Formats: sequence, C-alpha cells, structure tokens
Amino acid sequence: MNRIFSPEEFQAECENLRLQGKTIGLVPTMGALHDGHRQLIKMARDQCNIVAVSIFVNELQFDNPVDLEKYPRIIDKDLEITSSLGVDLVFTPEPDDMHPRPILFHLEVDHLGDILEGASRPGHFAGVVTVVAKLFTLAGRCRAYFGEKDFQQLAIISRMVEEMHFPIEIVPVPIVRDASGLALSSRNLRLNSEQLKSARSLSRALFAASDAIRGGEKDVMKIEDLMARELGREINGIAKSNQPVLDYALVVDSHTLAEPEQIDGPVRLVVAARVGDVRLIDNIGV
Ligand code: PAF
Repeated sequence: MNRIFSPEEFQAECENLRLQGKTIGLVPTMGALHDGHRQLIKMARDQCNIVAVSIFVNELQFDNPVDLEKYPRIIDKDLEITSSLGVDLVFTPEPDDMHPRPILFHLEVDHLGDILEGASRPGHFAGVVTVVAKLFTLAGRCRAYFGEKDFQQLAIISRMVEEMHFPIEIVPVPIVRDASGLALSSRNLRLNSEQLKSARSLSRALFAASDAIRGGEKDVMKIEDLMARELGREINGIAKSNQPVLDYALVVDSHTLAEPEQIDGPVRLVVAARVGDVRLIDNIGV
C-alpha cells in the first residue's frame, strides 16, 4: 500500500495508473474508518483495478470549531484497516496543502444544500463539495464510492458531477445495518444502551412507512405522520433524557429532494432525530 501526502503526487500517480490501463476506484473519507467504510472499500475492490482511499478531515465542512477539534483522528488504525482490505493508495494530505492559504475560492450549493441536513448545518455542503471537487480534480477519471447513509450528500455530489461535467462515475453504496436495523455510524459509539434502544426507532419508522407505501398508501402527509408516530412510540419505557427528538421525517424525491404531492413512483424516506446529544440520520428508498 502506497501512502501519498502531496496532492500533486497523488494526481500524477492516478494519471500514471490510468496510462497503464488501470481503472481507479476512489473512496473519499475523513478517517475513523468503520464497517460502513469497509463496505465502500470492498465494493471498490470488487469493481476496480486500483483502490484509492483519501483520509482527510476537511475543516471547510465543520460549522463548529469544537466538532472539528474533537473529530477522531486515528490514522494508524485507519492504515491497518485499509491495508487489510487490499487498498493500493492512501492519500493523506495536510490541510495547508489541500486548501492553500489564504483560502480564496470555494464552491456554493444552491437550495439543495440549505434543506434537511443543511438547515441545521449552514455551509456544511458547500464545504463538502469544495473538498470533493478538489479530490475529483486530483483523482481524474474514476469511479467514486459514497454511502447512501448520507443521502443528501450523495444527491448533491451526483448533481455536482452532472452539472460540472466531472469525468467521475458515482457509485452509491447501500446502508449497512446491524441485526436490529440500526444504520451503522461512528456516532452510535456515543450512545449508551438505553439510547441505542431509542435510536432503533429511526429505522423502525422507515420500515413501517416503507411497508405502508408498498401496501398502497400514496398520501405523503399520512406517511410522514406515520414515521413521526413510530419515532414517538419507542419512547415508552425509556427515560425522558433518551427520547428521540425528531428533527424531520419526510418523503422526498431521490434527485431533487423535494417533497412530492403524492407518492406515484420511487421516493426516499428520510429521518433525522437527536438522541441525547447525538444527532442521527437514516433513510430508505421505496
Ligand atoms: O462523507 C464524508 O466522510 C465526507 O463528507 C467526505 C465526502 C469525505 C468529504 O469530506
């Protein structure tokens, strides 16, 4: 496994590999790799000759300096994981090399970046697309793997690739769930056992709503109410401080993320709730 620090060297190496006829699978990450990342890497390993993982904690997507400070940085463990999964290139740039100072340029996202997750994290998606656009520029023509767990991020990046004509094929990777249905996330580690029980209501709400839609329900309001009720149902018997506090439970179009008038075709159900001080998100396609 080749570890590269310099953006120019990473760009040259990707170009060189392509000239040798190799296909490249890029897995952008901020490190602290977990099973969800393993899934992305395994899929890239199956589909591409070369797997490149970037590990870079991108300051531009944090609206809170404390969160940036606290973000887990466990590079040695990450490198063990990437090596065990047969990754070829690990790109670990320094912040000043990735974002030369002073920072004069960044991308903006229109309304897609202001709704759902963007509503509670102003500027977050502008920071994400700015770094992802840089990674795409460096990696060049490749497949890039993103988890469906961050569904809004996936939708925004897919739209960016289309609109900016990046030579990148976006590969969405399905959510990994534990036996109870809970979507895997590094944030789950911050939940105690009571809160974990409470967190399961997010996926239960999604599954109940998905069943209702498959059973013929087309009314968006009824489905959204059903999800909100399911999230509330789980609070019985759980201490008040662990109750999920619903942020949103919505039916949206998979591309535009707009709420449809009625459910007539494929939709995405998206939920966000806070359990204790941990904000959780989940979604499902129907
Ligand atoms: O999903 C993430 O880990 C980050 O948002 C990404 C795509 C690596 C950009 O920093």
